[in-house]
Amino acid sequence: MTTSFKEPLFIVMMGAPGAGKGTQARLLCEALGIPQVSSGDIFRENLKNQTPLGLLARQYMDKGALVPDDVTINMVMDRLAQPDCAAGAVLDGFPRTLAQAAALDAALRERDLRVRLAPVLEVSDEAVINRLAGRRVCRNCQAMYHLEFNPPAGDPTRCDKCGGELYRRADDDPETVRNRLFVYYKQTAPLVGYYFAHGVLKPVDGDRPIEVVQADLRAAVAALA
Ligand code: AP5
Ligand code: MG
Ligand code: ZN
Repeated sequence: MTTSFKEPLFIVMMGAPGAGKGTQARLLCEALGIPQVSSGDIFRENLKNQTPLGLLARQYMDKGALVPDDVTINMVMDRLAQPDCAAGAVLDGFPRTLAQAAALDAALRERDLRVRLAPVLEVSDEAVINRLAGRRVCRNCQAMYHLEFNPPAGDPTRCDKCGGELYRRADDDPETVRNRLFVYYKQTAPLVGYYFAHGVLKPVDGDRPIEVVQADLRAAVAALA
């Protein structure tokens, strides 16, 4: 797909926990040659390395609550200031509050940039619960699988791409998932209205096969060129 966009492409993937943000963001990044910036992945990486940021984030993640805005905003802004984000990035899991969205806009505005597209993956609560119950993640490269909907082609305990061990995320137990959904509706769903008001919202039916959803996203991005 063409990557000759006049203006850097900052795309915000929205949707409930388990809607497919990470899965779709990764595919879109491969096609566009821009990085995926996933706040959840950065927190999990910090936790793996036992950094103070990781240990702090864990207290919130284990409950399915949001990590405080100041910590999260600083972390993501540092990441977006890296040179590999010069041509844009696909943000996944950030922003999640109106304060985060405003901070992102302010940081981009300083560079004369803006969010170009905010796809929201629409998936029913039942589907989300089934997706998270069967999700497996590669410990090494963070590739996403599902025991039923998207299983690894070979050994069911290993990543197809890198051979890494597949694990179940600690926050994918049913009780934490229910709280994550509650937090989504309360704190993050208002951002749908925010991006609608900014003229960049793109609702996408996320309850279809992964490739079909991806095709819609690529068409929406191509329309920006
Ligand atoms: P985060 O890691 O962002 O988790 P989340 O938003 O709950 O979203 P998920 O990663 O669970 O789902 P996803 O939409 O990426 O779906 P996926 O592609 O994996 O955040 C975790 C925690 O970190 C938060 O709870 C919070 O504590 C903290 N945090 C992170 N960001 C923060 C922020 N900005 N502010 C404050 N705190 C923050 O897909 C799910 C499954 O479904 C997979 O198994 C996949 O294979 C399967 N699947 C995907 N698409 C399809 C399809 N079309 N059909 C069938 N199956 C599919
Ligand atoms: Mg994710
Ligand atoms: Zn892997």
